[in-house]
Amino acid sequence: MISIPDISPTAVEPDWANIRSLFPVLEKKTYLNSCAYGALATDVTDALQRYIRDRQEKGTDWNYWVERNDSVRNAVASFLGADPDEIAVTASASAGINSVASALNFDQARNKVVISEFEFPTNAQIWYAQELRGAKVVRVPEKDGYIPVEHFESAIDDETLIVAVTHVCFRNGARLNIPAIAEIARQKGALLLMDGYQCFGTMDFDVHRVGVDFAVGGMLKYLLGTAGIGFLYVREPLIESLVPTVTGWFAQSDIFAMNTTSYEPAPTARRFEMGTPPVPNCYAAEAGLKILADIGLPAIEYRIGELTAAIIAEARNAGYTLAVPTDPRRHGPLITLRTHDEHALVDILDSQGIVTSSRSGNLRISPHFYNNEDDIDSLFRALREQKHLLV
Ligand SMILES: Cc1ncc(COP(=O)(O)O)c(C=O)c1O
Repeated sequence: MISIPDISPTAVEPDWANIRSLFPVLEKKTYLNSCAYGALATDVTDALQRYIRDRQEKGTDWNYWVERNDSVRNAVASFLGADPDEIAVTASASAGINSVASALNFDQARNKVVISEFEFPTNAQIWYAQELRGAKVVRVPEKDGYIPVEHFESAIDDETLIVAVTHVCFRNGARLNIPAIAEIARQKGALLLMDGYQCFGTMDFDVHRVGVDFAVGGMLKYLLGTAGIGFLYVREPLIESLVPTVTGWFAQSDIFAMNTTSYEPAPTARRFEMGTPPVPNCYAAEAGLKILADIGLPAIEYRIGELTAAIIAEARNAGYTLAVPTDPRRHGPLITLRTHDEHALVDILDSQGIVTSSRSGNLRISPHFYNNEDDIDSLFRALREQKHLLV
């Protein structure tokens, strides 16, 4: 089985202090909530303002706007190690998953969909909706805050059509062994869709190398863009055989043919798109993705590894209960602590200028490359006063 590679330091250390100054919110807040929404960079603000100015000055500029959409497609392809023809720019992760689901035929012996107990609701609900079309959903259980590969091994079989699984769990931050799960799916003849929303932008991830068939994500968290834009990766050899029945004019082979007599899906992954692209969000996403590309994902992954290790060490020293696995191969950027009252704790921290979030009783602490050790000190100083709320 393929193992997850170790992370090593990059040759040239980026100037993190200078990079931090590009995110104004960090002067006002201790911002540790990138799992919910990334911090807004000045470059992204400028891009959104440029969209307004372009409209005020030019009225419409469709050719340029379609180029912005394609520029996002190219940037996503580049950070995933994919070909631009394998990328659909979507309105959300849900739109991408729905489009894939609509292209699958569940009216056959291979009709099983394997999901896990770690799914974000949308990657469960959409598959349960397919039960109306003949799908049978099986949910792989967790054990002590993790889902070992063996649990997937027992669930994936010759009746499995697709395994749809999150990479990093939004509730506790556990990172699943996607290369190993993808290998099991491949051996059983099943497809694999990865929901990478909680990891894309924080680690070097090559879709071809890992061997996933589909991947979805969105731009508002670690990718530094905004809400209302996401993407779907589809492995090239699959594209031709999959014909989405959830569709729209931007999914056609010739968008501007304005054909109203037939359905002619694009030969590329654009066939998984739908209507008018989210133009303002393309401006923001393009600017956010450029920041990541300029720094480089290996350096970002290494820096986040340092910050998450520091958070885990502080939590252990203080005797708090970590809800996330502490093995660096089993977590991503999100570190979680068990609480007695998650909402009270998040509110108290917020009143002190420390922005976090919570799910399922866990305090979610989610640094990005723009955070530093002072942010972690501020958080743990504040937590010392709230010991009674921590398990
Ligand atoms: C793992 C995961 N998947 C999906 C989403 C959101 O999906 P959508 O873009 O459809 O709103 C989130 C948002 O928090 C998420 O954490």
